[in-house]
Amino acid sequence: MKEFFVLLGINLVVFFRNLIEFIKVAFRYYGCIPFLKADIALRLMYLFHNPYSISKRFLIKKGEKDIYAYGETPLTTLELISRECGIGPTDCVYELGAGRGRGCFWLRSFIGCSVVGIEFVPEFVERAQRIAKKLGLQRIEFRLADFLQCDLQGASVCYLYGTCLEDQAIDVLIEKFAKLPPGTKIITVSYPLSDYTEKPSFEIMKHFTAPFTWGKADVYMQVVTGFRG
Ligand SMILES: C[S@@+](CC[C@H](N)C(=O)[O-])C[C@H]1O[C@@H](n2cnc3c(N)ncnc32)[C@H](O)[C@@H]1O
Repeated sequence: MKEFFVLLGINLVVFFRNLIEFIKVAFRYYGCIPFLKADIALRLMYLFHNPYSISKRFLIKKGEKDIYAYGETPLTTLELISRECGIGPTDCVYELGAGRGRGCFWLRSFIGCSVVGIEFVPEFVERAQRIAKKLGLQRIEFRLADFLQCDLQGASVCYLYGTCLEDQAIDVLIEKFAKLPPGTKIITVSYPLSDYTEKPSFEIMKHFTAPFTWGKADVYMQVVTGFRG
């Protein structure tokens, strides 16, 4: 019985957080017609297949242990992160694990930067590609790929919201990030890269907290130093 009320409480908190986020999104961002169209298309496409269950099904099929790994950065939080990290129109942002691409559409519409969303769930990528094509959006690309295996050269910013990643996956990413040109920004949620490497390949330039659906998280903006030793 106690568990029931705890679960109910959590669900209510999440419901109200999502409701407040929805109202803020509508007021702040729905004046931008291309974004409005993309967001409505996303809402309609996922009306009967929510991204959490699509991700879960994919992870079960893949034989993963952690099948509840999906989550989205609230758009108001993405705005905060973009501002704090100084992301601008000349940047090329690689979103590592772009989910259904909502953040990519927001970055393209409101920051004006080029965006590459890398994601290994085919349904997410196919749908996002369809929306981008239908709306004739330029400088936004969705790649069906495993970000542990693909080329990240070309990114001036990498955004990683991967709180459920295993240590080995982060180690692989660290190797790849360290090879990017000095000054490339790597934004991580919940942990800094320095928790996983002792090499001075990254320098933390900023650390702040930002709201996610499940609570406040630490966000780290580090830059590649050029040290590869
Ligand atoms: C926590 S969600 C974040 C979604 C989005 N970045 C956001 O912040 O709203 C993590 C996403 O990364 C994807 N993902 C996890 N590991 C991946 C990998 N190795 N290659 C490509 N995508 C991956 C998952 O399928 C999921 O969609």
